[in-house]
Amino acid sequence: MEFITLNTGTKMPLEGFGVFQIPDAVQCEQVVYEAIKTGYRLLDTAAAYMNEEAVGKGVARAISEGLTTREELFITTKVWVQDMKSEDTAYEAVKTSLTKLNMSYVDLILLHQPMGDYFAAYRGIEKAYKDGLAKAIGVANFYPAILTNLCENAEVIPAVNQVELHPFFVQEAALENMKAYGVVPQAWGPLAEGKHGIFTDPELVEIGKKYGKSAAQVVLRWNAQRGVSIIPKSVHAERMEQNIDIWDFVLTEDEMAKIAAKDLGYSEIVNHDDPAFVRMLCGMKVH
Ligand SMILES: NC(=O)c1ccc[n+]([C@@H]2O[C@H](COP(=O)([O-])OP(=O)(O)OC[C@H]3O[C@@H](n4cnc5c(N)ncnc54)[C@H](OP(=O)(O)O)[C@@H]3O)[C@@H](O)[C@H]2O)c1
Repeated sequence: MEFITLNTGTKMPLEGFGVFQIPDAVQCEQVVYEAIKTGYRLLDTAAAYMNEEAVGKGVARAISEGLTTREELFITTKVWVQDMKSEDTAYEAVKTSLTKLNMSYVDLILLHQPMGDYFAAYRGIEKAYKDGLAKAIGVANFYPAILTNLCENAEVIPAVNQVELHPFFVQEAALENMKAYGVVPQAWGPLAEGKHGIFTDPELVEIGKKYGKSAAQVVLRWNAQRGVSIIPKSVHAERMEQNIDIWDFVLTEDEMAKIAAKDLGYSEIVNHDDPAFVRMLCGMKVH
């Protein structure tokens, strides 16, 4: 595993494990436990995933069995839009997440969307950071102009910006902008959520053959190799193992460019410019 240093000075594993769309508590707890057993040390959840309690239980089980320690783990959660009304509601949301996770701190707390009163909410997580409830703070889905405005005006520069990043949505300019502010990019949907035939794409399969790797491994390696943190999700043990087995090969510059050339220039998963999408997320209640 490689690590990346955040602007707080803390080291974050470059690869982690995401738990979006694992709503079943029993399955989520088991999957988190299995992920830790497989070697993942970064876990990415959110208030909106409705599974923070299960994540906490899976972590507690792994620690009680001596598989890892809390200090070795890097736990991320996110404040949902519903709680991004004021500094206080965001701060309270952090405390609620900690209660559900059964933890005294998280390693990273993110604002899940650039929606609601996100400046006020950001001050809430800044306070959580200063009070030691979160070792680092950041944002998700903050597209370049929005991230720039935040970085130009916030007291604490976000450590991480978690956005959709995969070969069909490369976002080079967004990465350049994050780099300029020292914000670490983290890829959600690093496997494009399985869209666009990513697992059977002939070019990706072909590149993988050279290294004895799958298309999934190739695209994860590609993001990691360009300095992007990745948090793939899988409920299947074999895929979990496969997705973390990407640290023993290096893609050539030509291969990196070939993969980046698959860029569509837009997301096939979400459209943050669509008022109906924003309205939907603003109306989504998690408690
Ligand atoms: N901040 C945000 O707004 C945001 C949005 C979306 C996601 N996220 C975070 O990012 C994480 C990852 O994104 P994601 O879960 O949306 O999508 P993803 O990791 O790109 O893709 C997950 C999908 O790929 C399948 N899969 C995983 N590994 C595979 C492999 N080796 N071969 C074939 N299929 C494979 C999974 O199926 P199985 O599970 O059935 O194996 C699942 O259907 C999330 O879990 C979440 O933590 C954040």
